[in-house]
Amino acid sequence: MTAFQPAIFDRNSRQHLFLEFIRRPGTTDEAARQALATVVGADSGIVKTVFACGPALCQQFGMPVSFTDFSLDGVVPATQADLFVWLQADHRSHLFDLAMSFRQHLDPVFTLQLEQDGFVYHDMRDLTGFVDGIGNPEGEAALRAALLPEGQAGAGGSFVFAQLWRHDLASFNQLSVAEQENVFGRTKVDAVEFDDERMPQDAHVGRTDTDHDGVPQKIWRRSVPWGASSQHGLYFLAFSCEVERFDYLLRRMYGIAEDGVRDQLTHYSAPQTGSYWYAPTQEMLASL
Ligand code: HEM
Repeated sequence: MTAFQPAIFDRNSRQHLFLEFIRRPGTTDEAARQALATVVGADSGIVKTVFACGPALCQQFGMPVSFTDFSLDGVVPATQADLFVWLQADHRSHLFDLAMSFRQHLDPVFTLQLEQDGFVYHDMRDLTGFVDGIGNPEGEAALRAALLPEGQAGAGGSFVFAQLWRHDLASFNQLSVAEQENVFGRTKVDAVEFDDERMPQDAHVGRTDTDHDGVPQKIWRRSVPWGASSQHGLYFLAFSCEVERFDYLLRRMYGIAEDGVRDQLTHYSAPQTGSYWYAPTQEMLASL
């Protein structure tokens, strides 16, 4: 297997920083390539990094995948940009230092569109108090869900979906715990998934634990909470071997898939951004 970027699967860091950049008009492909190669090479080792490119940059760099900008028929915000950088560490100081150094190299070619920090809340809970990520596939199944398979163009790389969600916790917290559990389809304290009989059709897990044309729509999720007491939410981040899986899952969440059922979660949280990326293999990054 070609070497994927290992930080995709490394869940040990509690502090996160997400950067989304747009390429400045008039800059050359060569300047963009050099800027990215410099930051890839400047990785300090203390901070774990993941780099990914939007559809346009993939094409400009000759990466062996082709996909279109994120869009969900105008149902949610679409904010496709060109370059995605994800930094993970145990201390914010390290994220700050590396981000400042990356910006020096990237700013002549890329404009920053979004900078968002995030953190691991308690035992990997979303700010609603529900454990997030526990239903992820494990081991080999995680690799199969996240990475393009051997023999396919772009093998070992991964399609990425990033979407900043803002929660309305004031409303969510008015629900009883039983009602909150019905929103997700898992128990709150110990995160036990409801069985089929108990699972509401419009629960989040009921919408997202699904097959499409007989294929389980498994993805590898690495979302983390963001914010403080005034504004807060989840930076949703997921990896998949097929970009279409994200689209299908979101259609099921927004009631625009076959059965027209809408995910209850979308009444308490709303996406502010949305973009697709391709995270190339280490070899592809090294050969920039
Ligand atoms: C505010 C945004 C979101 C929150 C707070 C959230 C939270 C959660 C929680 C608490 C679970 C159950 C625990 C777990 O399985 O890890 C879960 C499961 C899941 N979510 Fe989300 N999620 C959000 C958005 C999304 C989006 C946008 C997608 C897909 C595009 C998605 C896909 C999934 C999937 C695939 C599962 C696992 C289902 C299974 O059990 O197989 N989620 N999410």
